[in-house]
Amino acid sequence: MLAEKKITVGITGGIAVFKTVQLVSNLKADGAVVNVVMTRSAQEFVKPLTFQVLSGSPVYTELFDPMAGAVQHIELATRPELIVIAPATANVLGKVANGIADDLLTTVIMAATCPVLFCPAMNVNMYNNVVVQRNIAILGKRGFEFVEPGIGRLACGVEGRGRMADLDLIKNKIRNLLHPRQDMEGLTVLVTAGPTVEPIDPIRYITNRSTGKMGYGVASEATLRGAKTVLISGPTILEPPRGVELIKVETATQMYEAVMARFAGVDIVVKTAAVADYRPLQFSNQKIKKQDGSLSLVLTRNPDILAELGRKKEQQILVGFAAETSNLEGYAQQKVKEKNLDLLVANDITQIGAGFGSDTNVVRFVYPDGTVKQMPLMDKTVLASRILDEALALRRKQK
Ligand code: PMT
Repeated sequence: MLAEKKITVGITGGIAVFKTVQLVSNLKADGAVVNVVMTRSAQEFVKPLTFQVLSGSPVYTELFDPMAGAVQHIELATRPELIVIAPATANVLGKVANGIADDLLTTVIMAATCPVLFCPAMNVNMYNNVVVQRNIAILGKRGFEFVEPGIGRLACGVEGRGRMADLDLIKNKIRNLLHPRQDMEGLTVLVTAGPTVEPIDPIRYITNRSTGKMGYGVASEATLRGAKTVLISGPTILEPPRGVELIKVETATQMYEAVMARFAGVDIVVKTAAVADYRPLQFSNQKIKKQDGSLSLVLTRNPDILAELGRKKEQQILVGFAAETSNLEGYAQQKVKEKNLDLLVANDITQIGAGFGSDTNVVRFVYPDGTVKQMPLMDKTVLASRILDEALALRRKQK
């Protein structure tokens, strides 16, 4: 799979190094030519000899190595087709984001001509630190790639986000970066993501728990696979995937207008957005003041964007989502037919690892002929790819 692919693995000092041992072994088994660069702190956790044996090549540790050529870091930076930093500490992210190159690994990254993939791993408070998040955002904007850390029990004993991502996810990303499947070239994909926000007065609004992860995952995968991708998104804190055309909206009505304006020219629509079914009938220009007794808010229906697309659709493959808390399959079967969809992705949001906010999802694919496919728990980016596989297969059948 990775035959003869030249990969440099940069290792910084974190306990997740033990996972990198397996990663290097797996990359080598897949046929890659692996070179390892270790920082001084990384060597406190695992000796270079371990990586030398697993990679079958000498491990690079020193910027000023009297035995190596004078421009060793330039050679290490320009030879590989991909550089993977695993684990990536807050320190290395901060240095690279701010242009500091004071050891072999950071000089290699600075001089790199190939994609660089960071796999951060650190304590949850460090990861959430605004400075670290700002550095990640800077690096993302400059084209560096990331596999986000997972949530779980960390080496320091606390629970939270900070564990280096599972090796399967890292390997998947490596494969995508080295062998981007271009099976969506020439297609236009429209994705809606995130929540909508329905204002009550200048201060309050009605919204829901969608973070946009599912939709941003679909947009990212479609772009990686060569599609022209239009992402119509409600408010989220996520960085838009590189290469997508992002249209930001707030309300369901704005999302409706943005979707309708683009629908005619698209081939596949994936509607992951959690659109508010209702909005306040009246927006109050002034802050609504407290009063004695209860307050009633009158709501009115928002347009059902998906149902409208179902009525209008011509060549487009229409993929809807359904978030349910009971009778998942019953509601899903009803929605797929009523809204004239080609596929409905139904998630029972009461299940662990499914629905809003999580990195993973558990869904059923429900088709208009009544067929149902239960998918296992999987990362939202992996699920995104499966959804696109299904949409492509449906498109082929249609022709
Ligand atoms: O964003 P994340 O945190 O990653 O969470 C992902 C998710 C839970 C939001 C996603 O997996 C999901 O289930 N999205 C659909 C949520 C939803 O609004 O479900 P629904 O059953 O209310 O709507 C059904 C479908 O109709 C959806 O495709 C929705 O986009 C669409 N719809 C709904 C209402 C409306 N007025 N217009 C619409 O187009």
